[in-house]
Amino acid sequence: MAHIAPTGHEKVEKNLGLMVVLIILVVSIGGLVQIVPLFFMKSTTEPVAGLKPYSALQLAGRDIYIRESCMVCHSQMIRPFRAETERYGHYSVAGEFVYDRPFQWGSKRTGPDLHRVGGRYSDEWHRVHLMDPRAVVPESVMPGFPWLSDAKIDGADVQHKMQVLKDWFGHPYTDEDIAKAPEAVKDKTEMDAMIAYLQGLGTAIKR
Ligand code: HEC
Repeated sequence: MAHIAPTGHEKVEKNLGLMVVLIILVVSIGGLVQIVPLFFMKSTTEPVAGLKPYSALQLAGRDIYIRESCMVCHSQMIRPFRAETERYGHYSVAGEFVYDRPFQWGSKRTGPDLHRVGGRYSDEWHRVHLMDPRAVVPESVMPGFPWLSDAKIDGADVQHKMQVLKDWFGHPYTDEDIAKAPEAVKDKTEMDAMIAYLQGLGTAIKR
């Protein structure tokens, strides 16, 4: 082949550094074309009608959900397939997660998807289930979280989080919401907060 002048393609294939640079360039452009529009599309940036930012108690519950690693076994993302929507309800849409920082979509499902668990069971069911899952679902492999009943919620902490979400990310909390946050979580346990959070999940879109 030595007698044929190297083509541009050959040069790229034989020059690792150049190939790496060009691959990065191509992948970056492809990525930008896919990702950048999402920052400007209404369907991904605007809340669905009826979506409210988490209440003080729900917000505290959400952080406990993350602390206890519930997402290791539960997703919060109903895919738009019949098997999913018949089991869980309306598939998840991006506008339902605009107040989730970070969102808890996930893909690991040791347990069921929880995105529309809000309203499916009574508070009491959740209380018993979280204390000891096998008390209500004998074959369950979910661990119990009985310590949630003992710990109280720190009002000042929740208030601070709400202020940050409002100031930095524009979550629509009123000054009154924030002022009343400590009162709203006064004497509430982590169990109360977790249940409030679970009961609100996915309720902006009715089943
Ligand atoms: C080791 C995996 C595992 C972990 C960790 C886990 N779960 Fe579960 N969860 C399951 C399984 C399996 C089920 C189905 C059986 C049952 O209902 O107990 C379930 C069921 C549930 C249900 C009922 C859902 C429905 O639609 O019937 C809720 C609510 C729930 N889990 C909440 C939580 C919360 C909150 C946490 C974190 C505090 C958590 N889970 C942690 C495995 C897990």
